Amino acid sequence: MLQVKSSGLFITFEGGEGVGKTTQIQQLETRLKENDRDVIVTREPGGTPAAEAVRNLLSHEEFGGDWTPNAELMLLNAARAMHIRDVIQPALEEGKIVLCDRYIDSTRVYQGHLARLDMNFIMDLERQIVGTHIPDLTFIMDLDAEKAMERVQSRGAMDHYDRGDLTLYQKLRDGFLSIANDNPNRCVTIDADQDAQKIADAIFSLTQEKL
Ligand code: TMP
Repeated sequence: MLQVKSSGLFITFEGGEGVGKTTQIQQLETRLKENDRDVIVTREPGGTPAAEAVRNLLSHEEFGGDWTPNAELMLLNAARAMHIRDVIQPALEEGKIVLCDRYIDSTRVYQGHLARLDMNFIMDLERQIVGTHIPDLTFIMDLDAEKAMERVQSRGAMDHYDRGDLTLYQKLRDGFLSIANDNPNRCVTIDADQDAQKIADAIFSLTQEKL
């Protein structure tokens, strides 16, 4: 019998491009709702009108590849501040389960490992903006770099990261795996190269353990 917690549960999904996060978030949302759980799905950058506007700015063709990495980091954190205040914090206070597509680990990997911004600066900003709103559980979706790149190319490039070469996919994978390794209490690595239903079963059962 599941114990119902009085406060909510914050779950993030992370990983490089093409690893199947979106499908798994939908699957988990469906299963939790079938079990009468109060769940919301959100994403970063985005999740509020202001933060979605920032997302559009970041991915806009005109500026998409042209923000300096520092400018990108500031915009991402501005969007995150709004998202936490207006969506994540209130939902958790109401006891909801929050499923978020990307969060702090994406910043550490994309702006840190990939764009090579100063990790101390990134982590200082993270402490200021995120504070105690650290996820209870993070699923790191892990897929071979070549397979991830093939998946993205077959669905058509969307933004400047999607258009990267194999080295970029390998760096993303290494970055997320190193975060999983350094944060074993929060992060669970999921082998994304399996049948989607099997992955969904594993994710649902790991989520239930946290409820
Ligand atoms: P998505 O469609 O997979 O959510 O993609 C959003 C893009 O934004 C993806 O390329 C990763 C990137 N991103 C960062 O670079 N840093 C961040 O902190 C976040 C949340 C996303």
